[in-house]
Amino acid sequence: MAKSNMDQDILRVLYSEEQLKRRIAEMGDELYEAFKDRNPLFLGVLKGSFIFMADIVRACQIKSDVEFIAVSSYQNATSSSGVVQITHDLQQDITGREVVVIEDILDSGNTLYFLKNYFITKGAKSVTIVTLLDKPARRTKPIKADYAGFEVPDEFVVGYGLDYAQKYRNMPYIGVLKPEVYSKQ
Ligand code: PRP
Repeated sequence: MAKSNMDQDILRVLYSEEQLKRRIAEMGDELYEAFKDRNPLFLGVLKGSFIFMADIVRACQIKSDVEFIAVSSYQNATSSSGVVQITHDLQQDITGREVVVIEDILDSGNTLYFLKNYFITKGAKSVTIVTLLDKPARRTKPIKADYAGFEVPDEFVVGYGLDYAQKYRNMPYIGVLKPEVYSKQ
């Protein structure tokens, strides 16, 4: 285990590196069966999904391509502002493509509700939502994941791509942040 000066800010581990690995392998198998004949476009939503994206595309050995879009709605706050901004747009035409959106977390649903509509208006043939974490307690938009790794409680989670004020994304596990860390701000 690498040394860390972030562990001290974590209240408890929610999903260990090993648990994440096992679940992502299962999700990769499910996606393989569903998409092996469909030439999917795996579309990662930056920044949060960058680590999950890297692992899920390797857990799913389908001849496919990858794309990214970057959006932001939290602007360093602990709850969504509700306004989704595209900070880096698609670099390719997705007309007629079977888009598989890869997200780290589905929370209020603002981001994926906006993006699903956006990809449809851009001509996607289908939009499938794959999220590592699903936090249904906070949903305010009518949107559901097609594939979800874990249902999480309504706590502030960080690690494995998920941040607080842009930090903690590089922790190899997912943990609950100590409330005193974000209430200090
Ligand atoms: C996070 C996360 C999702 C979104 C989910 O992104 O990566 O994209 O929030 O929340 P929602 O369901 O309430 O919209 P954030 O805007 O924090 O940007 P990031 O990906 O750069 O961390």
